[in-house]
Amino acid sequence: MTKNRISVTCRAKVNLTLDVLDRRPDGYHNLASVMQSIDLADILRIELVNHPGIEITSNQSDIPTGPDNTVHKACSLLLNAVGSDNGVQITLEKHIPHQAGLGGGSSDAAGMLVGLNYLLGNPLPKDELYKLAAQIGSDVPYFLIGGTALVKGRGDVVEKLLDVPQLQLVIVKPDVGIPTAWAYSRLAELSRKRTASTSAMVEAIHTKDRKSVVDHLFNDFELVAVEEFPAIKTAKQDLADLGAEATLLCGSGSAVFGVFSSSTVTYRAAEQLAGRYPFVVPTITTTSAIMFSGV
Ligand code: C5P
Repeated sequence: MTKNRISVTCRAKVNLTLDVLDRRPDGYHNLASVMQSIDLADILRIELVNHPGIEITSNQSDIPTGPDNTVHKACSLLLNAVGSDNGVQITLEKHIPHQAGLGGGSSDAAGMLVGLNYLLGNPLPKDELYKLAAQIGSDVPYFLIGGTALVKGRGDVVEKLLDVPQLQLVIVKPDVGIPTAWAYSRLAELSRKRTASTSAMVEAIHTKDRKSVVDHLFNDFELVAVEEFPAIKTAKQDLADLGAEATLLCGSGSAVFGVFSSSTVTYRAAEQLAGRYPFVVPTITTTSAIMFSGV
């Protein structure tokens, strides 16, 4: 019997590097970034039903449940692409904070594409799913690959890398949200010295050199985030004071992660910071982004 329900684990990401390069004729920026899945995830429950319509319910009341939701977009794009007149009932259990730079909405959209495609009998090959993913958002294609990956172009050119040596992290989100479009425009106003951070990170990963990975963590957006939001600077300092070997802004912010040397110090740091920030979680790097987890 074919299944009509599936549960999908949709993991968040951090950027181990993020170089924002030139502005493109389409208004987007070219990027060079190493993206990395982490063990912090939303759970998406998808059920195929016989009557038309896309219905989303969530454990969080403040997320949109209509066409603005990336999961809704992914669902209707896929139904249209395959000409299905099925309806879909979706439960979105959010754990990844939004406006954090952790890619929650993008991961959920990728999970929706893969999960719904499966329920429909896999009518679309991977390259067609990529095309739909790129229409939803710049970093959605990455989540179809997951793990450790080199991301280029607008975010749509994704190349799988060797898995990074596992890192123990604490993620902290201060009480500020940084709109992605604002961060890009602010960055464009600054004259920056170009570094070759992403190529050095790729080399560190290739040689499985954990120390070099930690030494080459870099994010162009950190400059504008630290300058504009003192809370980001404080979060980095708090993580460093609790023993983080390095700290870095997640994507375009506003979450920050710290890298720790053992699970003991990771959990101790997370415990100390809980209550001081709206969101604190200890986590580890993982080798995949999307995982089916049964019904
Ligand atoms: O595609 P996405 O919705 O993630 O992008 C949000 C905004 O971030 C875009 O409207 C654009 O202003 C900016 N952006 C960019 N270059 C990228 C990705 C995003 O300028 N590669």
